[in-house]
Amino acid sequence: MHFATKALRVGQDPDPKYKAVVPPIYQSSTFAWDDLDNIPKIDYSRCQNPNREMLEQVIAALENGEFCTLFSSGMAAVAACFALLKQGDHLLVANDIYGGTFRLAEKYLPKQGISYSSFDAQDPASIEKVLQPNTKMLIFEGPTNPTMRVPDIQKVTKAAKEAGLTVVFDNTFASPALQNPLDLGVDIVLHSTTKYISGHSDVVGGATITNDERLAFEIYEWNKAFGCNPSPFDNWLSLRGARTLSVRMERHCKNAQIIAEALEANPKVTKVHYPGLTSHPDHETAKKQMSDFGGMVSIEFGSVEEARWVAEHVKVFLLAESLGGVESLIAYPPLMSHATMTEEQRLERGIPPTMLRLSIGIEDVRDLLEDIQQAILSFPTKVSVNA
Ligand SMILES: Cc1ncc(COP(=O)(O)O)c(C=O)c1O
Repeated sequence: MHFATKALRVGQDPDPKYKAVVPPIYQSSTFAWDDLDNIPKIDYSRCQNPNREMLEQVIAALENGEFCTLFSSGMAAVAACFALLKQGDHLLVANDIYGGTFRLAEKYLPKQGISYSSFDAQDPASIEKVLQPNTKMLIFEGPTNPTMRVPDIQKVTKAAKEAGLTVVFDNTFASPALQNPLDLGVDIVLHSTTKYISGHSDVVGGATITNDERLAFEIYEWNKAFGCNPSPFDNWLSLRGARTLSVRMERHCKNAQIIAEALEANPKVTKVHYPGLTSHPDHETAKKQMSDFGGMVSIEFGSVEEARWVAEHVKVFLLAESLGGVESLIAYPPLMSHATMTEEQRLERGIPPTMLRLSIGIEDVRDLLEDIQQAILSFPTKVSVNA
């Protein structure tokens, strides 16, 4: 089966009793046993639930993986991967990783006796320089947030595997519709299913996918032990979203390409970060490993005031955190996704206060373009910090 068909058919046969084409919501915490000799496959919803099982099967299939575990959030999925480490272990974190993952590594892992170092995912040779005898895991992502860099997954993974590390890749920004990191050698793929997989900004969730049975078992056990399971309704919503992932991604990518090209030609925009632009430093890598360039675009302006003005004067775009939903969002990283970092840490990662991040939705692109252009044009050129 091909991607779009898998999304609609894997794990989704009509329900056995009434033949409903759309799976019912199994809003039950517990499931009856026939007798004491046969433990039911699903007996308690913290451990498993039919809606969760269906979605796990679909997401595993979309990532070309065997085992998927679902979580109540993307961060719980990240935490489950980190829980594979033990006291005394050392972790390598890409220096432009999502802010929440960075916070976990910096603030919480040390409390468990786990240390971390940063590496540059654009430069796989940097891995060797920060390796320690106790380094056990490496985590990276791409396109990165919000600079849209695209690390070469195969090269980074090869370098990490040579050092014997477990490789984790956060595929949230691309979605399985655009790239499948397990095919490139990664051990565990993770998602904030909140974003493209669910796709309608109405649910928070996470997933890990792997082909390694031992890793899958440990992750599942951690989920069960810590109770980070998503609810039946959340799984039902996410499955409804996943069914249309392929067509949504087509439109996200098409709209994003048009907007990125138009903004690159706009003299008021000083920089556009989008891997679909030939000017993007990782355009060739993106062409090689992604089937399209994604729906996320970051832009920079000449001043902080201009960036903030545009964020506050769009009318079709909504000023909000998150990404990957059908509606377009505009975000200001210093106050949103990267608020927990210091200004210095953000600048080190190439995130100036003049940057905005756009999650391009599936609206008519003419409305999106007109909206952002009117917001840019309406900026009163005399406004300054002291005005
Ligand atoms: C790349 C990435 N990974 C993980 C997460 C965390 O996901 P969640 O908010 O579902 O916990 C996010 C959230 O924005 C993200 O952008």
